[in-house]
Amino acid sequence: MTAASFQTSAAVFALLTLHVGALNTFTAAVYEHAVILPNKTLTPVSQQDALALMNKNIDILEEVIKQAAEQGAQIIVTPEDALYGWEFGWETVFPFLEDVPAPEVDWIPCRDPHRFGHTPVQTRLSCMAKNNSIYVVANIGDKKKCNSQDSTCPSTGYFQYNTNVVYNAEGKLVARYHKHHLYGEFQFNATRKPEVVTFDTTFGKFGIFTCFDILFREPAVRLVEESQVDTILFPTAWMNSLPFLTAIEFHSAWAMQMRVNLLAANLHHTSKRMTGSGIYGPKGPSVYHYDMETASGQLLLSQVDSHPRRSPDYPAAVDWDAYARSIKPFPTQKHAFGGNVHADQFNFTELYERAGNLTVCQKELCCHLSYRMLGKEESEVYVLGAFTGLHGKRAKEYWQVCTLLKCKTTILTSCGEVVETASTRFEMFSLSGTFETEYVYPEVLLSKIQLSPGKFEVLKDGRLVDKNGTSGPIVTVTLFGRWYERDRLQNSAKTSNSAIHFLLIATSFMITALQNIAMT
Ligand SMILES: *[C@@H]1O[C@H](CO)[C@@H](O)[C@H](O)[C@H]1NC(C)=O
Ligand SMILES: *[C@@H]1O[C@H](CO)[C@@H](O)[C@H](O)[C@H]1NC(C)=O
Ligand SMILES: *[C@@H]1O[C@H](CO)[C@@H](O)[C@H](O)[C@H]1NC(C)=O
Ligand SMILES: *[C@@H]1O[C@H](CO)[C@@H](O)[C@H](O)[C@H]1NC(C)=O
Ligand SMILES: *[C@@H]1O[C@H](CO)[C@@H](O)[C@H](O)[C@H]1NC(C)=O
Ligand SMILES: *[C@@H]1O[C@H](CO)[C@@H](O)[C@H](O)[C@H]1NC(C)=O
Repeated sequence: MTAASFQTSAAVFALLTLHVGALNTFTAAVYEHAVILPNKTLTPVSQQDALALMNKNIDILEEVIKQAAEQGAQIIVTPEDALYGWEFGWETVFPFLEDVPAPEVDWIPCRDPHRFGHTPVQTRLSCMAKNNSIYVVANIGDKKKCNSQDSTCPSTGYFQYNTNVVYNAEGKLVARYHKHHLYGEFQFNATRKPEVVTFDTTFGKFGIFTCFDILFREPAVRLVEESQVDTILFPTAWMNSLPFLTAIEFHSAWAMQMRVNLLAANLHHTSKRMTGSGIYGPKGPSVYHYDMETASGQLLLSQVDSHPRRSPDYPAAVDWDAYARSIKPFPTQKHAFGGNVHADQFNFTELYERAGNLTVCQKELCCHLSYRMLGKEESEVYVLGAFTGLHGKRAKEYWQVCTLLKCKTTILTSCGEVVETASTRFEMFSLSGTFETEYVYPEVLLSKIQLSPGKFEVLKDGRLVDKNGTSGPIVTVTLFGRWYERDRLQNSAKTSNSAIHFLLIATSFMITALQNIAMT
């Protein structure tokens, strides 16, 4: 056998194993965990007490991971803060932290538990993955020793990070991600730059981020567009916020707009409005869970496409403003009025008739709605709303929103207040807007916070329309746009402003200097 033919057969063999080893679908699991919280304290507990508390939560996760594996799951996502909750100060979280090395060290904690010091939590997580032959995704706290001479080195002598870890089916650490967009978490440091963390498996390429990260471009959008991941792993501790940002509503919309799988595991803690987990894909949710009634956790499993982009019915990219710019605005601005959704000032117009065509605008954004209700309920009032601008009191994120919304009462000043139930069904709706951004998340939320899988779709020209008969009772139909370029993020805005300022000074100094030279 010549060298050349050997190379060929080796290549054929590699192709064959690739073909055999690569899976078209896999079984994903997410677990909504009712976390056992530590007692509130102003003084740090001992490391031993911290571990005892974490072990109580891990005991529950261990049972669930075993169940998931028995039901054929290849990967399971557990929530952010699932081992110790969220109520900490800088010092009080410290006993809960472990030093988490980078995956490059090639480490199976279950096999080699003492290689990186005291790491009982990492060891247990790794063993749970290894013992059950399943990828385990968990959220823990990482501490990194810093130089006390460094003025940014905190009092504990460590930087502290909100961290996701992933162990493969052999228990090996394959990914570590430090959360970038913290949500008022004073116990943690934000990374200076967002980390882009991916890893490959026989069932697709994975990316990972945490909770509030999902509202920003970095690293979430980049993982999809540049790294071309198939599936996002998403531990979260999400506090639901109507009308646009309940967990199931926004997370399912994110997967549809970005056209990837999103495995979202939320904490379960109803007094903080934390519930809502799911397995979402480009065509909508395959399974989701929302429960404000009970105090129990919930395991969800579903079959998922390993490579959604290769699927024959992979949805086409949407040109979000194509339809809205192609038509003349409907001539019904006379009933427009202002109102608030939380701190944001919307322009509204009422759906007066049982059916109609409406337009409402705010600055550059015009929203169009065509609709027909099954019956006009006297007790229920709906409005079409438009908002464009920096959102909320923080005024950092730029939103562009077109929304069909049920008002809390029949009094128009109640429009935008929190509503959870409705009885009006729509025979048809078509919502579109003149968005300046290509990142528009399509949301349909039904009465009692339920999704409407298979009952609506987004057309290539940017219309969000009903499908397959009369809708369920609607709380909101929304095109939630994020114009990331217009965001005002504290750090980056400051640097770029001061850089420009410096440039201007430098330029004017140079001009003065040149003038002086010319004059002498
Ligand atoms: C919280 O405090 C109570 C009373 O001191 C104690 O019984 C309980 O074990 C503590 N819980 C935890 C999680 O430490
Ligand atoms: C894993 O399995 C080993 C032996 O099979 C057992 O000793 C160990 O307790 C198990 N660990 C976990 C975390 O399940
Ligand atoms: C980390 O957080 C601590 C506490 O908020 C702060 O004092 C320190 O400057 C931060 N360091 C960095 C590098 O962000
Ligand atoms: C629409 O919104 C703009 C900007 O917030 C506001 O100036 C205008 O008065 C609003 N129109 C109505 C009818 O409320
Ligand atoms: C809405 O507009 C469409 C054409 O764009 C028209 O066919 C329809 O009759 C209009 N509906 C109402 C209720 O005015
Ligand atoms: C369409 O609606 C019918 C009846 O409501 C239902 O049985 C069917 O599953 C729906 N199809 C999709 C794709 O949701």
